[in-house]
Amino acid sequence: MSLVTTTEMFKKAYDGGYAVGAFNVNNMEIVQGITEAAGELNSPVILQVSKGARAYANHTYLVKLVEAAVEENPQIPIALHLDHGDTFELCKSCIDGGFTSVMIDASSKSFEENIELTKQVVEYAHANGVVVEAELGTLAGIEDEVVVEAGHEAYTRPEEVEEFVDRTGCDSLAIAIGTSHGAYKFTAAQCTILVPPPLRFDVLEEVTKRLPGFPIVLHGSSSVPQEFVKMVNQYGGNMPDAVGIPEEQLRQAAKLAVCKINIDSDIRLAMTGNIRKYFAEHPDHFDPRQYLKPARQAVKDMVAHKIVNVLGSDGKA
Ligand code: G3H
Ligand code: 13P
Ligand code: ZN
Repeated sequence: MSLVTTTEMFKKAYDGGYAVGAFNVNNMEIVQGITEAAGELNSPVILQVSKGARAYANHTYLVKLVEAAVEENPQIPIALHLDHGDTFELCKSCIDGGFTSVMIDASSKSFEENIELTKQVVEYAHANGVVVEAELGTLAGIEDEVVVEAGHEAYTRPEEVEEFVDRTGCDSLAIAIGTSHGAYKFTAAQCTILVPPPLRFDVLEEVTKRLPGFPIVLHGSSSVPQEFVKMVNQYGGNMPDAVGIPEEQLRQAAKLAVCKINIDSDIRLAMTGNIRKYFAEHPDHFDPRQYLKPARQAVKDMVAHKIVNVLGSDGKA
């Protein structure tokens, strides 16, 4: 199978009451960890690349790594997606350069400006067989250079979604219902003993009522597993108060209209915890193949866990 768009994946996910995982990729070990897990579990998967990932690893290297993963896992559908595109030019460059899906994130602009830019990207993408994710509402946290402080996020306004989707022609919509980017999703004041405020399922339900059958996306959906936070802290790191979204709430969202769940921070934590542990236990080692091997395995195990216990996408390829 060659790279696919998310159209078919989302239709099956919507009807089947599960979600497809969208995992951020920045290097070979991450691509391998994710796709080995998805391949073995027969799960569809979305590999997503941010502007920062392109700046770090280079567009061509990332596309070729993803193409290698497609060749190694011909039994599963894999989509290559631009995460948080912020300009028409960036989206165009990814559309021209082999991506099958792009996100135009104009959610920090006014409603009218968001519509105008999203529509421009949709016209170019659709003319080239590529699908578009757009966003309404603002998540707290950090996305590339945009920092939204906790307390300044804005939930999606359900009364805006029909007009937005009608006028832009976007293929999926990211909404803000209380998820947040990064490993520090909530302030201590927002959490009661590591329990963050619940997601706004009422907003999701209202959006779904207004857009029946339309695929919804959740960003900022890492759970920040405490086993990795503890590992980081035990082996020389310092990540106090790192807290994520409880997995049961994401499982619940996946059963509803949410068809794509974005996970990046959990990958970073799995790798960092394991690399720190490896160095602490083997202070004389210096071969990257040695210390990246357990890190890659940890990414694979974590993604397998998400596919089976959170997304419910195993066996759905
Ligand atoms: O939402 C943002 C993703 O986690 C990508 O992060 O811009 O640091 O690559 P990045
Ligand atoms: P996390 O920081 O929760 O992993 O979110 C990732 C994301 O939304 C990428 O777009
Ligand atoms: Zn995001």
